[in-house]
Amino acid sequence: MTLARWPAWLFAALAAVIVTALLTVPGVGHAAPALLSQGHTATASSTENAAFPASSAVDGDAGTRWSSAAADPQWLEVDLGGPHTLTQVVLNWEAAYAKAFQIQVSSDNSTWTNLTPVTAGVAGSQTLTVSGSGRYVRMYGTQRATQWGYSLWEFQVYGDDTAACNTANSALNQPVLASSTQDAGAFPASAAVDGNTGTRWSSAASDPQWIRVDLGSVRQVCGVELNWEAAYASSFQIQISNDGNTWTNLTQPTAGLAGNQVLTVNGSGRYVRMYGTQRATQWGYSLWEFVIHTVGASPTTTTPPPGNCPWVKSTAPVADRVNQLMAAMTNAQKVVVLHGNGATGPYIGNTDPIPALCVPAMGLQDGPAGVGDSLDGVTELPDPSAVAATWDVNAAKNYGTVMGQEFAGKGANIVLGPTINIVRDPRWGRDFETYSEDPYQAGQTAVGTVQGIQGQGVMAQVKHAAAYNVEGGASRGTPSDNVIIDDRTLHEIYLPAFQTALTQGQAASVMCAYNEINGTPACQDSAVMNTALKQATGWDGFVGSDWGSATGGAPQLANGGLDMEMPGGAFFGQALLDAVNQGTVSQSTLDDMTRRVLTQMFKFGLFDHGATGNTGAVVTSAAHTQVAQDVAAQGSVLLKNTGVLPLSTSSIKSIALLGGDAIDPQNIGGGSAKVNPSPAAVNPINGITKRAGTGVSVQWVAGAGEHVQTPDIPSAVALAQKSDVAIVFASYGESETDDLASIDLQFSQNDLISAVAAANPRTIVVLNTGSAVTMPWLNNVAGVIEGWYPGQENGDAIASLLFGDVNPSGKLPVTFPKSLADVPASTVQQFPGANDRIEYSEGLNVGYRWYDSHNITPLFPFGFGLSYTTFGFSNLTISAQANGSATVKATVTNTGSRAGAEVPQLYIGQPAANGEPPHQLKGYQKITLTPGQSQTVTFTLTPRDLAHWNGSAWTTNTGAYGVFVGDSSRNLPLTGTITVTTAS
Ligand code: BGC
Repeated sequence: MTLARWPAWLFAALAAVIVTALLTVPGVGHAAPALLSQGHTATASSTENAAFPASSAVDGDAGTRWSSAAADPQWLEVDLGGPHTLTQVVLNWEAAYAKAFQIQVSSDNSTWTNLTPVTAGVAGSQTLTVSGSGRYVRMYGTQRATQWGYSLWEFQVYGDDTAACNTANSALNQPVLASSTQDAGAFPASAAVDGNTGTRWSSAASDPQWIRVDLGSVRQVCGVELNWEAAYASSFQIQISNDGNTWTNLTQPTAGLAGNQVLTVNGSGRYVRMYGTQRATQWGYSLWEFVIHTVGASPTTTTPPPGNCPWVKSTAPVADRVNQLMAAMTNAQKVVVLHGNGATGPYIGNTDPIPALCVPAMGLQDGPAGVGDSLDGVTELPDPSAVAATWDVNAAKNYGTVMGQEFAGKGANIVLGPTINIVRDPRWGRDFETYSEDPYQAGQTAVGTVQGIQGQGVMAQVKHAAAYNVEGGASRGTPSDNVIIDDRTLHEIYLPAFQTALTQGQAASVMCAYNEINGTPACQDSAVMNTALKQATGWDGFVGSDWGSATGGAPQLANGGLDMEMPGGAFFGQALLDAVNQGTVSQSTLDDMTRRVLTQMFKFGLFDHGATGNTGAVVTSAAHTQVAQDVAAQGSVLLKNTGVLPLSTSSIKSIALLGGDAIDPQNIGGGSAKVNPSPAAVNPINGITKRAGTGVSVQWVAGAGEHVQTPDIPSAVALAQKSDVAIVFASYGESETDDLASIDLQFSQNDLISAVAAANPRTIVVLNTGSAVTMPWLNNVAGVIEGWYPGQENGDAIASLLFGDVNPSGKLPVTFPKSLADVPASTVQQFPGANDRIEYSEGLNVGYRWYDSHNITPLFPFGFGLSYTTFGFSNLTISAQANGSATVKATVTNTGSRAGAEVPQLYIGQPAANGEPPHQLKGYQKITLTPGQSQTVTFTLTPRDLAHWNGSAWTTNTGAYGVFVGDSSRNLPLTGTITVTTAS
């Protein structure tokens, strides 16, 4: 049984709240309530299975949990080891919380006293003030809120602190990170926690600087000692954090001194740092030792690196280095790199290091549109729909390069992205974060992005394999998330983009999805992971799970082809070791999993250099925001233009901007692909006002929009009437975990557009939607631009298009239907599914393939997009061989009066007997032409481009294959034929 899960991004946000709750630092003179329960013995009335033991609720790890059997009543109890006075209980509930429970206390584990009345739980964190004393404390649940059991991420009991501050050094040999080092060889951060007062950390000579120790779990910290070298801090603070990200001061700004300085502090958290704001000398900050004292035992200290890990910085081939390291590893060490440590910081996913073998920790971070998971100092790029709509692999590469640089600057090793799932339906909540309805286009866009990311030394984890195209609300990740799909469709539509990303793009990793495929959870699906992704391609990377998508058992997952579990180790920790011992997972499978992960770690230099950055670094830059603006402009699609565009400041003297999105735009979608803007987003009002200049009056009235409390369409109409041109901004929002019910604009936005269009014949509509949207007013407006979710440079990008500084060249990566009645998955059985089945009964007929097969005229076809110039197509030549290999050439001419870019698209039509949809995209290029200029483009086709999946292999039949070239799936003026006489 799988419990309904929280999305990891939501969980991270919640964890941040919990951090704040845990990090209360007392004022002077008040004793802080101590966390008494952590690490103590916990027992429970039952557990759902071995993956969710009682101990997970008191381990300080908010990524692991206790879950009971699905029955009432149930209890979870902790033995505090001795009597204590109790003041507070914090329950961090998973989605399966208690509708009714009580906190009870006992001195003898037999007679219980209620500390609270019957209380209703909440999904999330719940803090209860209690008053009582005893040794045993329990949550006694009498009524469950869901059909599942009772599930707690953490159960924390606070009270008097009788335990003394331990004199041992809890920082000793713990993982440590510093903002900088003066010289990483001579003065590394680790020298400050090595117990050796003859070696030291020394920072660069600037302010501020910090050194941070990871205590491995949340600890009650009671003292620190700073053994300063001559270069001490004249002002610093000791700070504490649960995630290495959000910090709370444990001290006031304090003056250091040359020599040993002992400070008493009080707070709990996992990470402790010295944060220096002023140096005492012209040098940096320099510490011989940074000692931390905690309440209770010190964390288990890790063995310091022996200093002879010959695979580190070696120039031997990667395979030899992997072999050398694996020969030194026990199975217990191998599994360390195969699962997350459950922590929610510093990254959304974290593996532990193995110091004895010089294996570094890894950080995995969202996501597909730039650095996510609430980190700041990053560039909010346009959404991946916009990248796909550029139809330009180089633009994707530039976008990926910015991502790679920003993730590296934040110190992350693996990007959880790009998302490359097929857009099967315009209602999917994650359409904005993925690319295309076409497998070839999705694959090519993925290749560009992955190469950009990985060119910066960061791994890309393309996601989510496979056939994950519905959120289905609460059913995501449950057995009702069961995709029923035929093998041919899986291979022809849903797997190729992944295979292309791994072969052509050399992506280091793939994430397996939440859904089931014909009843098999995707993360256990050997036919997908072992056969299609690994064996069929010869790929040497690794498959990681989505957050909580690993279910079932270690043998099912490991034998199914999963290599790394995230975010915790319920299956790939002890359970995997047990499975190898019992023979249900073979030693060679464990070795293959380990080899795959280590191979990528070596390839990406993780054994050659230290951390490439840290989560606090500011990684955005002017160059990055320029790429954000360029991609937003190049991905915007001009859908209609009766001549109103481009705007000219010599003829236009007044512009009316309308719609809530002009001031408060939908720049990105929600969920793990959400990115914060830095320093601030440029909205359309600001971008357009700046570009229009002083000679043009730009005024704004909201009228209607998602965040507009009281629609006021008459005021919008009045402004439109008296202006030379009216531009209405309209949007819908998409988010992970939520599908759309409709693709119609909501919040009176259609009424606003119709009313403005009636008032001003020069009305332009700018749409910010993650996928297709209906346009009931289309015939009445003069211009339409689809700008997707344009990211933080929205205003400057749209201004450059409206005024013709950039000539539009984006093309639709998805079909826009006239209404939902026309879409391929129009029944509820198909989308979002019913009765534990999501029927992919449209088969191969996804996107334009459906509209072509059924002769349905879309509102705008796949591949469509206008320009301020015009283009002509001529001179199709085809030189083909007997097996179908061919070189196809076509000439494209700019027949208008402006420079612009066009995207010639090549489609293949298979012989009817093959049972394929009429047209399939097999090539495209983006070319820029000056007025009158012509260019011949060349497409190379292989037999595989003409093949279909026959149930076990790709087959190219003999017969006549149509070749079509043009500027959209529905405008293909050049046609020819390839005749295959040799089947393959
Ligand atoms: C999403 C993934 C994401 C992960 C980590 C999951 O809920 O499906 O796309 O990478 O969380 O945030």
